[in-house]
Amino acid sequence: MTTLLSDNDVIDRIFQHIDNKTTDLGETVWKEPVENYMSQERFEKEIELLRRMPVPYCPSAALLDKGSYIARKSAGRPLLVVRGEDGVVRAFKNACRHRGMKLKGDESGCTKAFVCPYHAWTYGLDGALKHIPGNEAFPGINKEDHGLVPVHSVVEKNGVVFVTQDEPISEGCLESIPDLFSPEQKVFEQSTMSDSANWKLLGETSMEGYHIKSLHNKSFYPYGVDNINVIETFGRNSRVTFPFRRIEKLREIPREERRIDGMVTYVIQLFPNCHITTLSSHSILIILEPVSPNETEWVVYRLTNKLGNGPARSEADTKKDADFVKNAGLDEDRYAAQSIQDSLETGANEFLTFGQCESAIVHFHKHLDDQIACL
Ligand code: FES
Ligand SMILES: [Fe+2]
Repeated sequence: MTTLLSDNDVIDRIFQHIDNKTTDLGETVWKEPVENYMSQERFEKEIELLRRMPVPYCPSAALLDKGSYIARKSAGRPLLVVRGEDGVVRAFKNACRHRGMKLKGDESGCTKAFVCPYHAWTYGLDGALKHIPGNEAFPGINKEDHGLVPVHSVVEKNGVVFVTQDEPISEGCLESIPDLFSPEQKVFEQSTMSDSANWKLLGETSMEGYHIKSLHNKSFYPYGVDNINVIETFGRNSRVTFPFRRIEKLREIPREERRIDGMVTYVIQLFPNCHITTLSSHSILIILEPVSPNETEWVVYRLTNKLGNGPARSEADTKKDADFVKNAGLDEDRYAAQSIQDSLETGANEFLTFGQCESAIVHFHKHLDDQIACL
């Protein structure tokens, strides 16, 4: 079970911080070795970790129908994830059992079966090999031994599909996951983008509000409050609350009638490489796929918000909000991460320093170190 604060408790804590000119502070300052953003050896350990724990692959809403599938690389391996005829989501290594061609390129769609583009070996949605053209030329081949190879396990929980590729290093890490998406939330955009930066540098940008005034001076700062955040942790994960200035309006409203929607941005970090952001009129699920120590691919899903929370939004409004976030604030964060990656080469810093106001990042690095030590 999660121990996240209620919306009203979050609002109370934000008002205390505004009144006292304070923010949530962690207990320690953290120094992360620069080497951990550059080393191939460390990168390979992080990839192993990503394969040996449940990591988000997509929102459930991206695999709504029976037969809907998404093929993409996850932790460096091409996977094929599909909702079966029985409604269960399964994940397979995306490799034909004849001579290994990927059954689907990086794409999504809906199908009744997977037909290999090379020689048309055909597999069911459950991965079973159904048909070999010219079967007589393969005497002794047992179809039952040549189904698609499943990953270790798939769990669909609270609106997100989690994939564990290999033997997990520990159990129970999904127990503390709160409700993430409700069934009425629809995917309205899916995209990818690449950055020349370590995946952790990109992730760190969304885990603190200490940079709102400086980095986002003309984008988020006119609407947002600088360096006032509520920071909560649950399991290895965290939630950082970023208040908008307009939250002041809630002071006039009796506590039990207050609605937080549109007054804050909630960012949930699902350890280690996923963020779910709830904004005024839409939500974003981001998965940061490490490509190399200094390259990352973003997998981004944009979804509508829950119905009935705050004023109803037109599709045009939602799109406008999404474009603003994308073209303004997010680009500034991406630039910051790439700029840091560039500077690491100078050797000026042996460590990157995270202060007490950046405690969600400290929490992340502590757990990342602990998990890597368990490999
Ligand atoms: S490689 Fe798939 S059918 Fe030959
Ligand atoms: Fe930012």
